[in-house]
Amino acid sequence: MIELTETGIDGLDEILNGGIVNNSTTLVSGNPGAGKSILGLQYIYNGVEQFGEKGIFLSFEENAEDLRQAAESIGLDNWAEYVENGDITIYDKQVLLRENDFSSSLELLLGELDDDNYERLVLDSLTMFKLFFETEREQRTYLLKFTDILAENNLTTLMTNEQGTVFPETDISLENFLTDGNIYLLQTPTDSGVNRYVWVAKMRKKNIDTDIFPMEISDGGITVHQNASAFSMMSEDESPI
Ligand SMILES: Nc1ncnc2c1ncn2[C@@H]1O[C@H](COP(=O)(O)OP(=O)(O)OP(=O)(O)O)[C@@H](O)[C@H]1O
Ligand SMILES: [Mg+2]
Repeated sequence: MIELTETGIDGLDEILNGGIVNNSTTLVSGNPGAGKSILGLQYIYNGVEQFGEKGIFLSFEENAEDLRQAAESIGLDNWAEYVENGDITIYDKQVLLRENDFSSSLELLLGELDDDNYERLVLDSLTMFKLFFETEREQRTYLLKFTDILAENNLTTLMTNEQGTVFPETDISLENFLTDGNIYLLQTPTDSGVNRYVWVAKMRKKNIDTDIFPMEISDGGITVHQNASAFSMMSEDESPI
């Protein structure tokens, strides 16, 4: 029996057939503004609020104050309280980049994971994380080592990834293979704004619904709608970016 971690995001657990496989690492890819960080914030917040699970949010992109504002803007009203009482631990870019040597920051973090206190982790973003390694070989080696350590510590992880999706010619890179799950957030411009979609392309050990589903970002955060999109991936005038 495979154990699952629910995201608690409306509609997303349904298309994941219950949730994300425990102790796995899932890549959340999309263009800027696609909703990757918001998905991460909700995942960590819902863990505390709905499931009593503690979370770690690693942000290379924003500081703790930005994260709080982003969380509160989508109605995660108790964010600051959970950070204060230790249910959510943030390593923001100021902390992660404080040590001259990036690996000392990571040692610090890995020491914290060892406590076995946490169930959920978000790394925002893998794109930035990779910049700390000089060669592609180093990146890969470290990514593999890191995902192993996360799994050993029973963490179920989301890593965000700046990866545009031009379906069907999705640019598939190594991290898509090195991770257990791949979720894509897509946007298509329209006359009145943007249409948003979510596509779960893979989830190892798990039967998932691989259709593309419409989603929305509003004051309540992300909501995924269950009616599989009539959206044609081949259509000329509505191809996702
Ligand atoms: N309260 C809200 N109501 C509607 N849309 C919102 C709301 N808050 C944020 N958004 C939308 O969410 C988008 C930002 O999402 P998010 O920061 O998660 O993107 P991202 O994929 O992490 O982008 P980046 O790659 O730049 O970090 C904004 O562009 C905005 O359109
Ligand atoms: Mg972001």
